[in-house]
Parts: sequence; C-alpha cells; structure tokens
Amino acid sequence: MATGDGGERGRVLVVHGPNLNMLGEREPEIYGRVTLREINAELCRLGAELGLAVESFQSNSEGALVDRLQAARGQYQALVINPAAYTHTSVAIRDALAPLGIPVVEVHLSNVYRREPFRHHSTIADVVDGRIMGFGPDSYYLALRAAAALIAAPRKDK
Ligand code: DQA
Repeated sequence: MATGDGGERGRVLVVHGPNLNMLGEREPEIYGRVTLREINAELCRLGAELGLAVESFQSNSEGALVDRLQAARGQYQALVINPAAYTHTSVAIRDALAPLGIPVVEVHLSNVYRREPFRHHSTIADVVDGRIMGFGPDSYYLALRAAAALIAAPRKDK
C-alpha cells in the first residue's frame, strides 16, 4: 500500500489484480518494463499534484480483491481498477463494485481488443464510468486524471 500527500480534493483507491505485481518482468513486449512500484509511486506523485490522496492495493486472489473493495465502502471518492485476468471472468468483482456508489475507472495497460478474443469481454465494463486501455502505464495516469474530473464534477447520468 502506498499513500500520497494532499488529499484535499479526495481519496482515490487504485486496485491491481493478479500478476500485475510482476510488471517489469512479465511479458515486457506487451506490458513494458515499468514496475508496479514505479506506477504506484507516479500515481501518488500525480495524485498530490491533483490534490488527491492515492492508495494502491494489489492481490493475486479474487477473494482478497473483493474483501478490499468491500472495505473501501465510504472511504474513497473514486476507484481506479485493473482487475487483470479477472476482468474477463469475475462476477464477484463486478458485484463488489455496485455498492461502492463512487466513480469507477477501469484500466488496462494493453489494448485488450488487439489481443485474444477471450480478453474482449469485461464483466465490469457496463458498471464502470469509463475505460482506459492501451497506453501502458499512462493508462493509469489518465485514469487518475479521469477520476479527479469525476470527483470534481460528478456525472448527472448516474
Ligand atoms: C490486463 C489485460 C488482461 O487481459 C490481462 O489478463 C492482464 C493485464 C492489462 O492491463 O492489459 O493481466 O488487464
């Protein structure tokens, strides 16, 4: 877990799913060489710039991810989530998002639509505010900016 400075505009939780702890070593031709620690550090730095306190959490376990999302109720103003492989399979993670009642931005490092067909389906796509993918680590930074915008000006269609 990492916590950023600031936070006067809100707190944002960033959740990373399975195998993302291996970033930097894992299939670098797809995911690049930047580590999760480096991404989390940049999210904290950018968060401070945006007036957001950023906390991050990674787990390889679906249950631990659901537990963390349940514990997040009432604690954050927005959520950024890359469920990784669970994106394509997890009804439990989808169900855990519904009671949060805060803006949610789905993130992927890779453009899943340029990859295998089984990656084209997301169980959470229709319950999140928006999806950002294909920009490597920048996907996370763009998602944090989107979260900041949603906190500042909540959408009226929700
Ligand atoms: C991923 C895409 C998923 O299909 C894959 O299982 C991952 C990472 C991405 O960030 O591009 O682990 O979510």
